[in-house]
Parts: sequence; C-alpha cells; structure tokens
Amino acid sequence: MGRFPFFLSLLPFLSLTVIFLSTTITPPNPAAAFPLSTDSRWIVDETGRRVKLSCVSWASHLEAVVAEGLSKQPIDSISKKIVSMGFNCVRLTWPLFLAINDSLASTTVRHSFMNLGLIDSIAGFQANNPSIIDLSLINAYQAVVSNLGKNNVMVILDNHISKPGWCCSKFDGSGFFGDQYFNPDLWIKGLTMMATLFKGTTNVVGMSLRNELRGPKQNVNDWYRYMQKGAEAVHAINPDVLVILSGLTFDKDLSFLIKRPVSLSFTGKLVFEVHWYGFSDGLPWKRGNPNHVCGRAMHQFMRKAGFVLEQGYPLFLSEFGVDVRGTDVIDNRYLNCLLGVAAELDFDWALWTLAGSYYLKEGVSGFDEVYGLFNWNWSEARNSSFLDRISGIQLPFQGPIEQPGQPGAKQHKVIFHPLTGQCLQRKSLLEPLNLGPCTDSEAWIYNTQQKTITIKGTYFCLQADGLNKPVKLGVICSGSTSKWEPISDSNMHLSSKLACHGARVCLDVDLNSNTIVTNTCKCLKIRHKCDPASQWFKIVNSTRSLNVTTPFLRFNSVLDFFRKNMLGSLVVLA
Ligand SMILES: *[C@@H]1O[C@H](CO)[C@@H](O)[C@H](O)[C@H]1NC(C)=O
Ligand SMILES: *[C@@H]1O[C@H](CO)[C@@H](O)[C@H](O)[C@H]1NC(C)=O
Ligand SMILES: *[C@@H]1O[C@H](CO)[C@@H](O)[C@H](O)[C@H]1NC(C)=O
Ligand SMILES: *[C@@H]1O[C@H](CO)[C@@H](O)[C@H](O)[C@H]1NC(C)=O
Ligand SMILES: *[C@@H]1O[C@H](CO)[C@@H](O)[C@H](O)[C@H]1NC(C)=O
Repeated sequence: MGRFPFFLSLLPFLSLTVIFLSTTITPPNPAAAFPLSTDSRWIVDETGRRVKLSCVSWASHLEAVVAEGLSKQPIDSISKKIVSMGFNCVRLTWPLFLAINDSLASTTVRHSFMNLGLIDSIAGFQANNPSIIDLSLINAYQAVVSNLGKNNVMVILDNHISKPGWCCSKFDGSGFFGDQYFNPDLWIKGLTMMATLFKGTTNVVGMSLRNELRGPKQNVNDWYRYMQKGAEAVHAINPDVLVILSGLTFDKDLSFLIKRPVSLSFTGKLVFEVHWYGFSDGLPWKRGNPNHVCGRAMHQFMRKAGFVLEQGYPLFLSEFGVDVRGTDVIDNRYLNCLLGVAAELDFDWALWTLAGSYYLKEGVSGFDEVYGLFNWNWSEARNSSFLDRISGIQLPFQGPIEQPGQPGAKQHKVIFHPLTGQCLQRKSLLEPLNLGPCTDSEAWIYNTQQKTITIKGTYFCLQADGLNKPVKLGVICSGSTSKWEPISDSNMHLSSKLACHGARVCLDVDLNSNTIVTNTCKCLKIRHKCDPASQWFKIVNSTRSLNVTTPFLRFNSVLDFFRKNMLGSLVVLA
C-alpha cells in the first residue's frame, strides 16, 4: 500500500509531461449509401457500414389521413427539427384504406378536414403548409416522404391499421387476417400499391407490413401464410426495401420463430419488429421491486423477441415510449430498464411518438399527446431532458466492420447509465469520474475473470474508495476494491467491496455534482420497493471510434518506465 502515495505525489509532475493525442474521428453515423440490406443482425448500407435506424414514429393513419402537425408548423421545419433532435429516420404510418380506396386517396387534405368538421386545422394548415392543403391525401403523404428525403431522413412505411383511426384494440376489425377490415387479398393489393408508388424513392428504406397483429383470430399458421406472401409481394416490386415483419399479440411475441423460420425466396432484406411498453407489465413496476420487475421483463423480452438477434436477424424495436412529463412512475421505471437493454443490444428502434397533438383522436380535436416529443403546438421539444436521455442510444455502439487487418482492435466497453442516457467518462486525470455524452466515453475494458474495469491500453482501474466517496482510478488492481460484478435481479448494479470491512457497495452517481461515487446498494431485497435507477449501469460492447483526447497514452508509457525501472528497487528498499 505504501507504494501508491508515491505515485500520487508524482501525478502533478507527470501530468505536465503529458502530450495530448487525439485519435482520428470517423463520424459515428455518416450519410448512408442506399439501398440498405442486412448483414446478420445488423442493417448495413451498400458499403457494408452499419446504419442504425434511430427513428421516431409520425402518425398519418388517423381519421384525417394526413401526417399530424402540419396545421401547426411548416413541413420543412418539422423535418429539420427531427434531424436536430438526433433522429435519422421516421416511421411514417398509413392506413390500408389510403392504398386501396381510390375515392379516399383522391380526397384533398382540405376536404378531409372539412368532412371531419376540423375548421381550425384548415386555417392552421393553410397558414403553415399552403402547398399541401389542396393535394390529394396520397399526394400529401408523398409530399411528406419527399420533404423528409430532402432533409436526409430515412423513412419506414408502416401499414398501421386498415380503417383510418386510432390503433389498436383486439376488436377494432383491423387486428388479424380475416377481420372485418382486414381482407388478406386487399392487404396484399395495398402493399403492392405502396411498394410501387415508392419504388425508386431512395429514402424509403423499409416497409413494415402490418402493425400489431392481434385479436381473437390470430394464429401462427395464418401468420406464416400471409406474412410470407406479403413479403414476397413487396420484394417482387421493390427489392430495395427492407421487409419488416411484426409479431403476434400486439407485436410482443415472435417466439414462434424459434421453432419455424420464415421461408422466403430472398435474403438480406428481412427484419423483425417488436413493441415494448411500460403498460405491458403495468402495476408491478410501481408496486414491485424494480430490480426484480426489470429482470423479469428483460428475460421475457429476450425469450419473445430478443433471440432473433442470435438467429442472425436485425430486431427493430418499432414502438416504445413514455409520458415524457416524467410523472408516471410505471413509465419512468420501465424506461430505465428499457434503455439499458437498448444500449446493450444496440438494436434499431422507433420511438412512439413525434406528435405533440393530433388533429383528431378518439373524437377529441387538438388531442394533447403526452408521449409526444413535441409540445402541443409542435414548436419545440416537450421535454428536452427526455431527448437528452434518448440521445444516448441514437448512435450505434457497434457495427459489423472492423478496422481492416486488425479484427477486434476497436473492441472496448462503455459504461452506460440509463437514468441519464450518459456514459462514464473522465474529464481530466485529476478530476473525479463523472457522466458525459457517450460519444465522449472512455474506452473501458472489463476483465471478466479478474472483474477489473480498466481504461483500455493503460494500467488504470476503477476502485471503490468508501461510502459516498468518489470512485478512484488506481494502478494496483488486485484488491477487492478493484473487483466489480454486476449483481441483483436487474444485473445492473456494479458492485465492489470496501477495503476496511469488506462492505458491499454499488456504483452510483451523485446527481448534484455529477460525480461517480460508491454507495450502499439500493433495493437488493425483493421486498424493497425503492427506486434503484441511479445505481443502474450497463457494461456495453462498443467498437466506436473514440474522439476523446486522451492524455493516457503518453502518461502510461511514463508510468511504464517507472514500473520497470524504479518500482522494483523501491520495493527492495522497503
Ligand atoms: C372509400 O372512401 C370513401 C371516402 O372516404 C368512403 O366514403 C367510402 O365508404 C370508402 N369505401 C370503402 C369500401 O371503405
Ligand atoms: C422532464 O422530464 C424530467 C425527468 O423525467 C422531469 O423531472 C421534468 O419535470 C420534465 N419536465 C417537463 C417540462 O415536463
Ligand atoms: C407553444 O406552446 C407552448 C407550450 O405549450 C407555449 O409556451 C408557446 O407560447 C406556444 N407557442 C405558440 C406560437 O403558440
Ligand atoms: C465527439 O463526437 C460527437 C459526435 O460526432 C460530437 O458531438 C462531440 O462533440 C465529440 N466530442 C469531442 C470531445 O470532440
Ligand atoms: C459483448 O462482447 C462479448 C465479447 O466479444 C460477447 O461475448 C458478448 O456476447 C457481447 N454482448 C452482447 C450483448 O452483444
């Protein structure tokens, strides 16, 4: 132990000799070369580079059959805000009737509002989007796709429902093949029409064949029969788009694929989608122990859907979302759990939802959407801190391309904190560790045998220093204070033991100072119903190019020199 202070006392001196080196920056998600295809579980572009779909859903399937919000803001300003909020993609919904009912498709936007008595929407639309208001509904839909394209936003066309209106219930006649409004032949006809219409539109990168299959008629045999038929129909017309298939039971269940794979004439274009909300598990989030409920929900998610990644297919979490006001306990706890999974698995996703308000939803005009990214008048983000959290998963952590000739060279870990959407980082050598944007994360290495967490290419490891004390970086990493294990049912507490009396502590963040500390582990006992989220961390695989300026490279070689040349003799002297 006596050796350590010696190094510490050298720190100020050594840091003077540090030369700042900067690794070259590859933009994490540069403009993609279309069309997209799949490479095992990844979606990639023409050059083989990963493209992570970080989408937001934009509804265009309600009664008015017009993309929401255009009575509040000009289309171009909405598209630009989608980009500035960090999304690269929109999941644009459409009702089947738009594609199979010519008299609906040729109704103008103005008349659609008039038929619904939405006089205020007409005035707002006229003011904000005069060039769209007298287009037919199908041309207005195309105008939205086209404007998104102009702003480099990718689009997934999502057949959300049959009859225009809010989705989804088991008995709305749109749940499953054979329901009142869901004739399989007309559905194929509609998919064919949309595939034809958007053939050659390069920013339309995928078609999601049907949202949330459900209801009393659902069954596995018809799922294969019709989904395979729909997939072939779309692919035959537009082989450029990704074909995205939804599961059963409101798209929560793909488990039937374990036994029976989908059989298609084409490869490299198939993606599966799944939905995951807080209300699926509901009250247990509030009444139960969040570690336990999260553990169970994660297990269920893997069993019902996550396994497709291991089968070599991309998984698109095409709906998740919360009341962004942060007042719903169920949503808050679920989101912490979900963000950990989303970072770890690094799958593609679409947030529900963009809309701050709807022209008309379930009979209410101007319906306020508390799950919406935008505020009621679509002028700005409803809650910017929610956006900050989402930004943690917008960029890819991993991808299929390694540096040529150096497989694994870029492999490292980042330590992700779902409550903030940030990652463990170190501003400078002498400042305590804190949280920052994951793009500025340190490259960590987790040694699963020794349980140490070190900065890649250095001797520095994380060390617990005491209750409510900042975590240290040290170079003697053999003690219990340097061993970190994921514990609890959620597996998201990173736990170590203190030197003095061996007490178990957990990594935590002091949210006032933003400093990483260790504290007594929260809510480990099943009966503890407290909220452990400040202590939830995920060790996430990453191959991102680092763009941090790291003094450690040089510092480490100085340290190396001391180790080799002086440490031995010091120990002998002592
Ligand atoms: C087609 O759309 C028109 C206009 O919205 C509507 O009046 C008609 O009922 C629809 N036809 C069918 C078969 O749904
Ligand atoms: C935004 O979300 C945070 C965290 O969930 C919450 O504390 C805050 O009150 C929300 N702000 C607004 C304006 O809704
Ligand atoms: C938009 O809504 C926000 C809050 O809902 C409000 O503060 C703001 O004044 C509104 N802006 C306009 C132009 O109506
Ligand atoms: C790292 O890259 C991200 C995204 O390109 C950028 O926003 C951030 O400012 C960069 N950080 C540094 C320290 O250069
Ligand atoms: C992370 O990487 C390790 C080592 O390459 C691998 O064993 C593990 O399965 C990966 N985890 C995930 C979630 O991809």
